[in-house]
Amino acid sequence: MNTGFTLWFTGMSGAGKSTISAILAERLRALGAKVEVLDGDVVRTHLSKGLGFSKEDRDENIRRIGFVCELLSRNGVVAIAAAISPYRAVRDEIRARIPLFVEVYVECPVEVLARRDVKGLYRQALNGEIGQFTGITDPYEPPLNPEVTVNSSRETPEESARRIWATLERLGFIDFDRSTFPHQ
Ligand code: ADX
Repeated sequence: MNTGFTLWFTGMSGAGKSTISAILAERLRALGAKVEVLDGDVVRTHLSKGLGFSKEDRDENIRRIGFVCELLSRNGVVAIAAAISPYRAVRDEIRARIPLFVEVYVECPVEVLARRDVKGLYRQALNGEIGQFTGITDPYEPPLNPEVTVNSSRETPEESARRIWATLERLGFIDFDRSTFPHQ
């Protein structure tokens, strides 16, 4: 595999973007691909350090992640972005810049996310302890035409990863080097 592309995950906090992207990163690496994951939580500790959660700051965060994905994917790396990226316009702006771009919507009802609440943030948001929280006091704009939608309230992360993988195959992104198969 030597073709770079960008796999862009969008969805609310706790929906499963990081978990599913880690499964796919491992599978892609097993095929010999170079892969980098740009996770919102991680990016915010360096590349986007100091940015908050206003629309302006989120858009800036997403533009920075998009810029790095663009550089990586045009140099043969599979760039995987896993950030909420709640605003459609900036996601579409990045899609327009990156020729090989696959958008994955990780769907999950907010009630399920609030029940799961792995980081305890939904409780804090519902209690008014943190503001501008996506899905509670801040908007989330789902994609209108994602290449694939997975639903983490109905599928395991492995099932979602398999469905995304099937989409990548269908779109021609999974390119086996057949010379490594002795029977070919
Ligand atoms: S984005 O909106 O700019 O794409 P990003 O994915 O980088 O967000 O960061 C989201 C993570 O920041 C969440 O998973 C959560 O851990 C944390 N977080 C802290 N405050 C908020 C908030 N107000 N809204 C959403 N996520 C928040």
